[in-house]
Amino acid sequence: MKITSAEFIVSNSDADKCPKEPLPEYAFIGRSNVGKSSLINMLTDRKSLAKTSGKPGKTQLINHFKINQNWFLVDLPGYGYAKVSKKTKETFQKFITDYFEKRAQLVCAFVLIDIRLEAQKIDLEFINYLGEIEVPFCIIFTKADKISRGKIDGHVAAYRKALLANNWEEMPQYFVTSSLEATGRDQLLEFIDGINDE
Ligand code: GTP
Ligand code: MG
Repeated sequence: MKITSAEFIVSNSDADKCPKEPLPEYAFIGRSNVGKSSLINMLTDRKSLAKTSGKPGKTQLINHFKINQNWFLVDLPGYGYAKVSKKTKETFQKFITDYFEKRAQLVCAFVLIDIRLEAQKIDLEFINYLGEIEVPFCIIFTKADKISRGKIDGHVAAYRKALLANNWEEMPQYFVTSSLEATGRDQLLEFIDGINDE
């Protein structure tokens, strides 16, 4: 799929105020700093469509980006960042869980996982939560440029093992990406295109 247009539409902290248009949308979620906003820029080939930072906690709101005039990419705040204020200290912020529980337009969530790390409890909790509320999701391993190519399969296998130990029967569909090197871009866009065409 070719990206011919990508525009920021709106930011908000209320799932009910997200765009009303019945267009399919894909949301990026995962721990702070895992690379959600960078991946949106990589996919759209726009350097700073979504704001990124070396410090965790950059994205604070639900951000809708309209792509090719007919679908949305959604950038979300990360979870698991210890320095959030006391008020927002619940594991997953209410407006984020509201988004996942209410958003009829959401066709697939992408759960981003830093490929370098061992499976983290908070990610497994979030994945289980998506299972409970029956939101379809894929796993996106990020920052693949940070490990040698030969080690990628081993890291994916370890993650699969963690999921199976966490009561999942199989590894969900997954993608290995690097926003730095545009790894996984074609596969992800093809996946999205396939769903949009259904
Ligand atoms: P929050 O908005 O804080 O939740 O973070 P985020 O998940 O949106 O992460 P963001 O895209 O802002 O990236 C965090 C840091 O990781 C930045 O310094 C990025 O440059 C870096 N980064 C993101 N993706 C990659 C990648 O594929 N490879 C490398 N090497 N660095 C990456
Ligand atoms: Mg971000």
